[in-house]
Amino acid sequence: MADFQPAFIDELIARNPIEDVVGQYVTLRRSGSNLFGLCPFHGEKTASFSVAPDKGMYYCFGCHKGGGVINFQMEIEGLSYPDAVRALAKRAGMNIPEDEQYQSRYRQQERLWAAHKEAARYYHSCLYAPGGQAALNYAVSRGMSKATLTRFGIGYAPDTWTGLVDTLRKKGYTDQELKDSGLVTVSKKGELFDRFRDRLMFPIIDVRGNVIGFGGRIMKKDDNAAKYLNSPETLIFNKRKNLFALNIAKKSKLGYLILVEGYMDAIALHQYGFDCAVASLGTALTEDGANLLSKYTDQVVLIYDGDNAGQNATKRAIPILEKAGLQVKVLQMRDAKDPDEYLKKFGADKFRLLLEESANRVEYQLNAIRRKYDLQSDDERVKYIHEAAQLLCTLGSAVQREVYGRRVAESASITYEAMKLEIDKAYKRRISREQHRREQESMSPVRTLQPRARSIRYDNMRSAMAEEALLAQLLKQPALFDQIGELKPEAFSSPLLGKVFAQLLGRYRQGLEVSLGVLSDFTAEEMSHLAGVLQRQDTPVSESALQDCISIIRAEYQKRGVSSDDDLLAMRNKLKERKGLKV
Ligand code: UTP
Ligand code: MN
Repeated sequence: MADFQPAFIDELIARNPIEDVVGQYVTLRRSGSNLFGLCPFHGEKTASFSVAPDKGMYYCFGCHKGGGVINFQMEIEGLSYPDAVRALAKRAGMNIPEDEQYQSRYRQQERLWAAHKEAARYYHSCLYAPGGQAALNYAVSRGMSKATLTRFGIGYAPDTWTGLVDTLRKKGYTDQELKDSGLVTVSKKGELFDRFRDRLMFPIIDVRGNVIGFGGRIMKKDDNAAKYLNSPETLIFNKRKNLFALNIAKKSKLGYLILVEGYMDAIALHQYGFDCAVASLGTALTEDGANLLSKYTDQVVLIYDGDNAGQNATKRAIPILEKAGLQVKVLQMRDAKDPDEYLKKFGADKFRLLLEESANRVEYQLNAIRRKYDLQSDDERVKYIHEAAQLLCTLGSAVQREVYGRRVAESASITYEAMKLEIDKAYKRRISREQHRREQESMSPVRTLQPRARSIRYDNMRSAMAEEALLAQLLKQPALFDQIGELKPEAFSSPLLGKVFAQLLGRYRQGLEVSLGVLSDFTAEEMSHLAGVLQRQDTPVSESALQDCISIIRAEYQKRGVSSDDDLLAMRNKLKERKGLKV
């Protein structure tokens, strides 16, 4: 974590009112002293996302994310703490007293971006040089138009050992920089060689427009070489956190994004007018990838290869995408192994039809359930109906339940009425299960007050509740810090709440602003929990409530045992008193 001066952070926060920063991403409506809108972190139709300008906080009652303006910036743009601070400073036109380490890291990144841009230029020019003829022919034979080659900056890494190394050295890049870039390999003797040789090159460009890596495809069939060679992980390239072609697709007007498996599939889709296609980078879809997608759309069409591997990848990707708040549709490839082949065989119009009727999640899951059973056998048919009903009863819309219910009934050769009974039964079972769960929860308040994250669980609930209430009061009225007496952070049963108390107390004593938003050095999970605490502990400020909290915290602390000599002495005297012993 970069060490910014507290006074700088205070000014940063003051000059970036949370409602303004959040307002850039979320349409907010005022309701009382708070503002409400649709949560940008999970898909929802009713506004459960709140912003409290007076507290400098945001909190979502749906997904329980929350924090101050810096946390918001981190979460929404996927930035680290220092990067979020930089972005907010830039927004407010402030100069950043950068720490040395961060600055040098950023300079290093800039050098690597520049080196990659040079490399992309070099590869692209090699495609049109005499040595690139075979590569150009290959690209054309794969159906890439001249415009596509330019648009994606497709290139050719020539069959030489040091073509790129020489080029970059001439441009002033040091050997260390070349090694850090991942564009070269190092021999045992320490010599540098081009990593990519005799391959068709696909530059990978991040959403900010920086070339961050490459994928290189061999052109002749060769069982000994990987079909694609990708850049290794570097300071600027993380294959799990980036998606191919998102730099172009994010500007698409189509209103959804198409996620495919391969570079060539994404490129073909773009060439045929589907400029919203992106591909993962030689890895299964990750949570980071899904979150990245969710910044640009709320609807994703998944088109993976029709083979078994592709189907399995689809099954794994659906929940990851849904967890990121995305609505998922699945397009089943028919009569072609992948979108690239399909477009070439049948053209864009046919593909558009396929897209339009592209099975949504329900249809896909129903198909998957159906495939599990042999519908010739009565026994299995019953199981099929049962499982399908369980899926259909989760649908919110009666129309959907009927449409799909009829389909299942037909495939299982039963009447729709019988199917409907089955769905209703499953629905009742589900509701009563959920009700039971809710009752259990409300009967056990301890469980609901417990933080969601295991790592910050409360060991002493009585004390923790007093600690929460105390912090809420202090945050509302920092002058109360004068009334807390000798209360020490160690007396807190929750290390997290104790740490918050310590930081706030320190700030109060230095005359700095006291609010949750100014806290540093807490994880997103911890901040979310703290924001939730503030929402929950919303009783009016009073000195007696404050003193009650302090007594409880003290009493629980004493029960836990004693650590300092003073306390030991006090404890012994107390014990003796109670037992009527003389000293
Ligand atoms: P595919 O083989 O389906 O890729 O692998 P493709 O782009 O459609 O390839 P062709 O040119 O039409 O045959 C899907 C993705 O998996 C990664 C690449 O990202 C590729 O785009 N991959 C595949 C590798 O990283 N290495 C490999 O050896 C193969
Ligand atoms: Mn392919």
